Amino acid sequence: MAAAQNSPCRDEGPDMKIIELVDICKTYVLGKTEVNALSSVSIKIKKGEVAAIAGPSGSGKTSLLNILGLIDKPDSGSFLLHGRDITTVPLNQLSGLRRGTIGFVFQTFNLIPVFNAFENVEYPLSFTHASKKARKERVEHLLQLVGISELARHRPYEMSGGQRQRVAIARALVNSPEVVLADEPTANLDSRTGAEILAQMRILNRELQVTFIFASHDPLVLDAVDRTIYLHDGRIVEGDRCRS
Ligand SMILES: Nc1ncnc2c1ncn2[C@@H]1O[C@H](COP(=O)(O)OP(=O)(O)OP(=O)(O)O)[C@@H](O)[C@H]1O
Ligand SMILES: [Mg+2]
Repeated sequence: MAAAQNSPCRDEGPDMKIIELVDICKTYVLGKTEVNALSSVSIKIKKGEVAAIAGPSGSGKTSLLNILGLIDKPDSGSFLLHGRDITTVPLNQLSGLRRGTIGFVFQTFNLIPVFNAFENVEYPLSFTHASKKARKERVEHLLQLVGISELARHRPYEMSGGQRQRVAIARALVNSPEVVLADEPTANLDSRTGAEILAQMRILNRELQVTFIFASHDPLVLDAVDRTIYLHDGRIVEGDRCRS
C-alpha cells in the first residue's frame, strides 16, 4: 500500500489544531535488531474530534499513541502543541505540559490497586494546588459523569472490567484535558460493555468538547468514530476516512 498524505477532515482555524506531528520516526533497538515502528508519520489532532488510529497488530498504533500522549519521544520529526514546537523538551519536563492538555487511558487501566475508585481519580490532582474541598467536588462530579458514584469506595479488584475502565476514564479527565487518548479501549471488555463505554465517551465529547483518540482495530470502535487514521508497518496508508 502506498503511503498517503494525512488529510484534515474538517475545516480548521488556527485554534482548532491541538497537536500536530510532522514526519515522526520511531525505531526500537533490541540487541542487533532494529524495528521501524513509525516512519514519517504526519497528523493533526483537532479540537472536538473523535478519531481512531487503526491497523493490524504491530503496525505502530501504541507507539504513535504514546508519542501523541507525551509518554515517549520520537527519534526524529516535530511535535507541535498548540503551534509551539516542543520537540526538544526533555521527557522528564513534559508532565507539566501534559497536565491539563492530555489524559491517557491505558489498555490495562493502570489503576493503583491499594487505592479505591475515589483515590485513583483524585491521585493526579495531588500534583496540583487544588484544595481538599475542590478535589472532592471534582472527583465526585467525574465519578457521577462516568456513572459509578456508588463505587467510590471500591478498590479495583472489587470492580468489573467495565467499571475499572470508567475509573480510568474519570482519572484521565480529572485535570480537564483537551484530548483523551485511549489504547484499545474495548480490548478488555465484552462487546456490550465496550459499546456502553464508547457511548459514554461520545457523551463526554459532546458535553465537554473533549477530543478522543483511540488506538484500536476493533470494528466496534471504528464504527463509533468520525475519523480513522490507518497505519501499516508504521506508515499512514489510505489517508483518513472521515464520516460525512
Ligand atoms: N519497547 C519496544 N521495544 C522493541 N520493539 C517494540 C517496542 N514497542 C513496540 N515495538 C515494536 O514496534 C512495532 C510497533 O509496535 P506497537 O506496539 O506500536 O504496535 P500496535 O499497532 O500497537 O500493535 P498491537 O495491535 O499488537 O497492540 C512492533 O513491531 C513491535 O514489536
Ligand atoms: Mg498496541
